[in-house]
Amino acid sequence: MNLPIIPENIPVGVVGLGLMGCSITTCLLMAGHPVVAVAPLPVDMETAEPRIREHLAKSFQEGLLTKEPATYLEPLVITEEYSLLKNCRVIMECTVENIAIKKAVYERVEAVVADDAIITSNTSAIPISLLQRETRLPARFLGLHWAEPSHTTRFLEIICGDLSDVPTAEWLYELSHQWGKEPTLVRKDIRGFITNRLMYAMYREAFNLVEKGYATIEDVDRACRNNAGYWMTLVGVFRWMDLTGVPAYHTVMKDLFPTLSNQTEVPQLIDAIVNAGGKGVLNAQGFYEYTPEEAELWKQTYEEFSYDIRRLALKYPADVVQKKLAARKATEE
Ligand SMILES: NC(=O)c1ccc[n+]([C@@H]2O[C@H](COP(=O)([O-])OP(=O)(O)OC[C@H]3O[C@@H](n4cnc5c(N)ncnc54)[C@H](O)[C@@H]3O)[C@@H](O)[C@H]2O)c1
Repeated sequence: MNLPIIPENIPVGVVGLGLMGCSITTCLLMAGHPVVAVAPLPVDMETAEPRIREHLAKSFQEGLLTKEPATYLEPLVITEEYSLLKNCRVIMECTVENIAIKKAVYERVEAVVADDAIITSNTSAIPISLLQRETRLPARFLGLHWAEPSHTTRFLEIICGDLSDVPTAEWLYELSHQWGKEPTLVRKDIRGFITNRLMYAMYREAFNLVEKGYATIEDVDRACRNNAGYWMTLVGVFRWMDLTGVPAYHTVMKDLFPTLSNQTEVPQLIDAIVNAGGKGVLNAQGFYEYTPEEAELWKQTYEEFSYDIRRLALKYPADVVQKKLAARKATEE
């Protein structure tokens, strides 16, 4: 992919306009891309534009936009017609986590886009090597794993399947810096990619502690927020061990690893909630009890927090120390 990295010259298509499709569209518009957003369900035609408008209005209030929010909507087309994707260079598939549905979407996309257009999926957990085999030209297929809300989060995983073209993934990696991301390139496919593997290891141990009666849900959450939650915006696990002394981790691992949960079944605690219809704050039924008002306030509070944490993350980017060194050198000269 030799296309110069100028978002205004790179039309992007988004297919699937649910929660993530709308925030991804917002992120791409904020970066300057012309966007063709395809609504596979009629209801998306009604809900997508107000959602994107709301994201832009809030981003404006929070100081993330340099122009009036309405200006960002100018290069956006929301449509039910896949044929309008014809000139798009990159496609973001954001439909439900279902292989048959995604496959049907790829067929419709590949029927209209150029053979050198890139096709990506925002799948949370379907292996990219498996999904790309559902396409006609698997080399141009990659995973692009966003985090909600995509227009504020710095996270992005770019995942190669077995048959993906790695230079194409490297080009997307460069481009994604224009979207305000600090991306990760996963060069070899693995189920769950990087963060889900790390996070699910932690979820499993959290269930183990609660189900075996060592601590309550509240206590596990409090410990997690005030330990990992305290440092993780600045550093990842390896830098953390460097910061706090590597030998101590070496010692603890020997004794602690054999005691960690390696359970392979889904925990009973989550089974019971899901079987009873619980979805979390979405329907005020989850690990905690919520009144509808509390559930709504949790949603709002998370949104407020997303903007606050973004400001903090921008103050401490991955190259924060290199920047300090460069500034120090400049004053010395
Ligand atoms: N929600 C998250 O935090 C999150 C995070 C990372 C990745 N993902 C992944 O992103 C994808 C979309 O998730 P979401 O949270 O936006 O879901 P969502 O339920 O909000 O939206 C799903 C969208 O899929 C489309 N869709 C539904 N039925 C369809 C059909 N029969 N044919 C074609 N399209 C159809 C519609 O546009 C619908 O709005 C999933 O693969 C999910 O695993 C979600």
